[in-house]
Amino acid sequence: MATEQKARIGVTGLAVMGSNLARNLARHGFRVAVHNRSAAKTKTLVEQHGHEGDFVAAESLADFVDSLQTPRQVIIMVKAGGPTDAVIDELVELLEPGDMVVDGGNAHYADTRRREAALRERGLHFVGTGISGGEEGALNGPSIMPGGSPESYQHLGPVLEAISAKVDGQPCCTHVGPDGAGHFVKMVHNGIEYADMQLIAEAFDLLHKVAGLGAGEIAEVFRGWNSGDLESYLVEITAEVLGHVDEATGKPFVEVVADQAEQKGTGRWTVQEALELGVPVTGIAEAVFARSLSGHTEQRAAAQKVLPGPSSVSSVADRDAFVEDVRQALYASKVVAYAQGFDEIRAAADTYDWDIDLGAMATIWRGGCIIRARFLERIKDAYDTNKDLPSLLVDSYFADAVIKAQEAWRRVVVAAAAAGVPAPGFSSALSYYDALRSERLPAALIQGLRDFFGAHTYRRVDREGSFHTLWGEGRNEIDA
Ligand code: 6PG
Repeated sequence: MATEQKARIGVTGLAVMGSNLARNLARHGFRVAVHNRSAAKTKTLVEQHGHEGDFVAAESLADFVDSLQTPRQVIIMVKAGGPTDAVIDELVELLEPGDMVVDGGNAHYADTRRREAALRERGLHFVGTGISGGEEGALNGPSIMPGGSPESYQHLGPVLEAISAKVDGQPCCTHVGPDGAGHFVKMVHNGIEYADMQLIAEAFDLLHKVAGLGAGEIAEVFRGWNSGDLESYLVEITAEVLGHVDEATGKPFVEVVADQAEQKGTGRWTVQEALELGVPVTGIAEAVFARSLSGHTEQRAAAQKVLPGPSSVSSVADRDAFVEDVRQALYASKVVAYAQGFDEIRAAADTYDWDIDLGAMATIWRGGCIIRARFLERIKDAYDTNKDLPSLLVDSYFADAVIKAQEAWRRVVVAAAAAGVPAPGFSSALSYYDALRSERLPAALIQGLRDFFGAHTYRRVDREGSFHTLWGEGRNEIDA
């Protein structure tokens, strides 16, 4: 193929996300090579959307690679795990040093690190890239979180920024950091997405079971909330889902959906990594466990038969006041979940030497992605003011917000417990707030117990050093 006919970039893997991304590239004026293992999908894409831009359809991977300008830029949009490795293995045989392989799937960042190191050995750039926004985002502007070498970003950045969502004219795409940084940040994005949805679900449950509101009324409540501090894509679509009526039964749609939440794994990974890094992401963990619990239908059925709730539940005296309390509890709990997610990104950046700009992460999450929200602007401001902020909760805006919300937050957690309505997200977020601000924690007693049964030693508040008490022999304290 003549050089001037070659494509700027290529996409292999043309399921919905891949073909929408290819269309987005073509619509932005990039000549895009497209390839799929089964050629039928490539043909369909070009037949149906060829008029949207400049596509170069390739039947074989070799033709696909040959149709790209050098250094070649290939975006892989296939299933994470084995299928991604299979495509990479085939591709590397066809590429030349300096070429770039972009993995746009939800890969585990450790796989990305491994692949990046392996391709670097061969002189290739491997760019693990988080892409958020679902099918619609891929087509019309996602939030893009690329990792990999700074050099690869010089080539890919202009293309990825062009097709990303824009907020106030700024692209929702930036170079996150080397090797697995992009996929790590995308993983935490998804963890926060889990926490956010769990909190929204708890707010719905409380408004329904404690305040007695119907799904349609709650839809209106969320619609109203979407014009304030809580303005976000997830709150907006909550109003849509709650307002939807099932055609077959005439019931609110939410009442006919089975109440077992599924998960593909990114939320679980976020918690697993947080455990390794020692970062308490309690909001995300509660969200993952709440989904697991919802799926344990046999246990739930057995418990429903024998475990009663409170014998009497007093009704809400002032519905409007309760709705406002829930709004404030939701906002405060959401701030906690985001604070914890950003803590996890910072801890990983320290561990892997990624030098991630947290304010920039908030900036690229303002548009395109699932957790896009008005208050990400505030998070950006907080980290712009102090990039070493110990916790988002101590930034003056967020401290003010949770302090203002705390009375309402406490009333909601009390009301949930009194009514027997589970609110693990709200209550664990409040416990986190209380633990973080406590001058003394009962961890001191835990240290005492560890020393008693295992001579694990402890430190004292009044002098330096490590100590052990001879618990079985007179209880004298010795230096450890
Ligand atoms: C996104 C979404 C996307 C996907 C989630 C769903 O950012 O576009 O997060 O990646 O919809 O992975 O995850 P679960 O199936 O685990 O809920």
